[in-house]
Amino acid sequence: MFRPRVREKGVGLVVVSWIGLIVLCAASTSPCDKTRRVFTAQSGIITDGPSTSNYTQDSHCEWLIKAANKSQYITLSFIRMGTECSYDYVFVYDGDSFDAPLLGSFSGKTEPQNVTASSGYMLILLYSDTNYVLDGFRAAYAIHNCPNNCTERGLCISNECFCAGNWGGADCSIEICPNSCSGNGECEGAKCVCKKGYSGESCTLKKNDKEGNSWHWLSRSESGMTRRAAHTAIYVNHTDSLYVFGGYDLNKVLGSLEIYRFSTSQWYDEKGKILHRNPTDEDRNKYLLTLFTKSNLGGNLLVGNKNSILNTVVSSFMNHDKSTLPLMYSHMPPPFTETYLHFTERPDAMSESNVTKPEPRYGHSAAAYGKGFVLYGGKLSDGSLSSELWLYDAEQNKWSLRALNSSFTPPGLTRHSLTAVKDELYLFGGSTVDGEFSARMFKIKLGDVNNENWEMVQVRGGKELDVRVVAHSAVYHSHSNSILVYGGVVASVAR
Ligand SMILES: *[C@@H]1O[C@H](CO)[C@@H](O)[C@H](O)[C@H]1NC(C)=O
Ligand SMILES: *[C@@H]1O[C@H](CO)[C@@H](O)[C@H](O)[C@H]1NC(C)=O
Ligand SMILES: *[C@@H]1O[C@H](CO)[C@@H](O)[C@H](O)[C@H]1NC(C)=O
Ligand SMILES: *[C@@H]1O[C@H](CO)[C@@H](O)[C@H](O)[C@H]1NC(C)=O
Ligand SMILES: *[C@@H]1O[C@H](CO)[C@@H](O)[C@H](O)[C@H]1NC(C)=O
Ligand SMILES: *[C@@H]1O[C@H](CO)[C@@H](O)[C@H](O)[C@H]1NC(C)=O
Ligand SMILES: *[C@@H]1O[C@H](CO)[C@@H](O)[C@H](O)[C@H]1NC(C)=O
Repeated sequence: MFRPRVREKGVGLVVVSWIGLIVLCAASTSPCDKTRRVFTAQSGIITDGPSTSNYTQDSHCEWLIKAANKSQYITLSFIRMGTECSYDYVFVYDGDSFDAPLLGSFSGKTEPQNVTASSGYMLILLYSDTNYVLDGFRAAYAIHNCPNNCTERGLCISNECFCAGNWGGADCSIEICPNSCSGNGECEGAKCVCKKGYSGESCTLKKNDKEGNSWHWLSRSESGMTRRAAHTAIYVNHTDSLYVFGGYDLNKVLGSLEIYRFSTSQWYDEKGKILHRNPTDEDRNKYLLTLFTKSNLGGNLLVGNKNSILNTVVSSFMNHDKSTLPLMYSHMPPPFTETYLHFTERPDAMSESNVTKPEPRYGHSAAAYGKGFVLYGGKLSDGSLSSELWLYDAEQNKWSLRALNSSFTPPGLTRHSLTAVKDELYLFGGSTVDGEFSARMFKIKLGDVNNENWEMVQVRGGKELDVRVVAHSAVYHSHSNSILVYGGVVASVAR
């Protein structure tokens, strides 16, 4: 579904000299010939050819990197990248077939970030259409027992990184408690626990900051929220939280609601459970303990005194080189409990087994409303467009479908805008199921669920055809009592 649309086959524009190519490539690899090449060495270089030659049109080149076993990790780092932007792609899969999860789809001239596969395989595909070619890519790969060899900042024990010093994350690439929590918090459990009124990964965002105009890192993709695009994110003042719903990743359309609470600087799922993308210190300690008690050394140690066990384990692993690697856990982090998480606003767990909630979608639109937010439309996993209006009550953590009895319903839409204006909602623009760009505006007032009716807004001035727009943004400006619309794609330039 998210693969690039294949451009219509045209007449090839570039004639490639095969003889020239073979000569040029002889030093590194043979030209890409639609067969799969398999790499099993610990490290190597993957390229479609040198930068002095272009890949061929209509290419389909496959490289499979195979680790010694499924517990190993394969990291690919790009050295050079050059494909026709949004037509020719380098796809990277975490597996040995195209059904495996897609880790990246890269196009253009910017070297992508490192990609790590965890299945023991990495499949790389260079795909080009029939027009216009560039010099392709060159990437180095390496196979390790731990992700990215723990970035050489930790110990790799049983395929898991135990990071040294101030490093964390699956591959020890993340600095924990950056800037020592800026003096506005304490470093506990490998994260900053901010003082009241401060938020962010290093507690730099001050709730009542009068000056503003500065950026703050609240959270990185490694620390909670599922990576996604084409989702909505709504700040609800009542709960001082950000609600992220829907969108897609490279493999599926998402239906999860994930919540960032500014009071704790952490992400939660809909049931109020803290989201961790990486094991916590406590998880790691338990894991280490399990490994250790399984081994013959375990019998001599008292379970319950984690400190001594950990230190013994760590030093036994490090005996061969104590001087170069810092001893991790020289002081144990406090046990991971919820007591230091300022849990005053913990959402109640949902008790219903039959929770009604919107199905996965992307390209929908949402707006803060009352003690929660509303959302309309979007594209569903089957490609159809929704015309549902949902209300999320952030106080009760409950979804409800609205305007069920409305005699009239706006069409299914995607990439439209939904704007709250006092107690009314305005729906504007977007794309309909046949791809038509809409200039229509609808409104609805929420109240009694049985009596909520959509209305078409009759616009009195201006040319409607001028405002057929999708993927714009819209905001209510209370001072002029207007909805301001900015950007987007208009019908006259659409293709
Ligand atoms: C590669 O393709 C680009 C764009 O089509 C062209 O400008 C360039 O000369 C080609 N390079 C070679 C070595 O053929
Ligand atoms: C996987 O293979 C690597 C390299 O041969 C080896 O170091 C590692 O112990 C193996 N892991 C498992 C779980 O078999
Ligand atoms: C990407 O991988 C290369 C090779 O392993 C490494 O040198 C580089 O530091 C990595 N980059 C990041 C941002 O981790
Ligand atoms: C992996 O990292 C360790 C240090 O943590 C280093 O000694 C070792 O050489 C690295 N292995 C590779 C293959 O780079
Ligand atoms: C947001 O919430 C705070 C605290 O609950 C309240 O003082 C403030 O007036 C609210 N702001 C708006 C714009 O509703
Ligand atoms: C759960 O949903 C099913 C089908 O929608 C319905 O038949 C059933 O009565 C519901 N159960 C509860 C406890 O609401
Ligand atoms: C609205 O629909 C519900 C069922 O969905 C029905 O019970 C109710 O009578 C309807 N209300 C009106 C005003 O039509």
